[in-house]
Amino acid sequence: KRLILVGPPGSGKGTQSPIIKDEFCLCHLATGDMLRAAVAAKSPLGVKAKEAMEKGELVSDDLVVGIIDDALNKPSCQKGFILDGFPRTVVQAQKLDEMLEKRGVKVDKVLNFAIDDAILEERITGRWIHPSSGRTYHTKFAPPKVPGVDDVTGEPLIQRKDDTAAVLKSRLEAFHKQTEPVIDYYKKKGIVANLPAEKPPPEVTSEVKKVLS
Ligand code: AP5
Ligand code: ZN
Ligand code: ZN
Repeated sequence: KRLILVGPPGSGKGTQSPIIKDEFCLCHLATGDMLRAAVAAKSPLGVKAKEAMEKGELVSDDLVVGIIDDALNKPSCQKGFILDGFPRTVVQAQKLDEMLEKRGVKVDKVLNFAIDDAILEERITGRWIHPSSGRTYHTKFAPPKVPGVDDVTGEPLIQRKDDTAAVLKSRLEAFHKQTEPVIDYYKKKGIVANLPAEKPPPEVTSEVKKVLS
């Protein structure tokens, strides 16, 4: 299957991705994760992306389209993929159509993580991540066994620099202005499924499975 996950910051895209990935053997391409890795490595891409990310603004379409175009060539992505956090503008959606057309495939479903803005601040400010695996925790909703420590590796957890209430405001603004039109773009193609993203993770997972079965 070829899937797109779309939803505001904190709506649960990164939480559901590994579960969907294991169930359907897809590759998980998260532009936010790839950009954070580039920033940490201080690569040319990271240097260009850093400022916008810290302000909660979108990085330029060209940069993210380039990384997705490369990633789609990976052998592990040939049978299917989950795009998490891409496309986020209508231009990106149009470019994706071109990239897929070139490869003779198309998007099967767009999973829309529908949720009220008011719930998101608590989710974002309580999030802790294990950077190398992408595993995500929450102080209240999904606490690690030992506070501040990854369950699997025992390595320390960190908080994302953009996970503050102030930066969340800009991220939400970017979502409503630039990304909601992407949902309409796919609604016109009739491939959008709405998920009840305000529900607990297992309920969201079972809805995902229902939609994809
Ligand atoms: P990105 O990393 O994509 O961030 P985002 O879209 O803001 O999404 P998040 O990762 O914050 O939310 P999520 O939905 O994954 O939530 P999660 O599952 O972790 O992008 C970061 C930045 O990179 C952007 O601001 C931009 O600058 C740049 N960028 C990336 N892609 C781009 C693009 N295509 N174009 C341009 N720029 C781009 O959950 C959050 C928390 O809630 C966790 O703690 C989790 O445990 C908890 N939680 C999850 N689900 C539930 C639930 N059902 N109930 C209770 N708690 C839950
Ligand atoms: Zn995420
Ligand atoms: Zn809106």
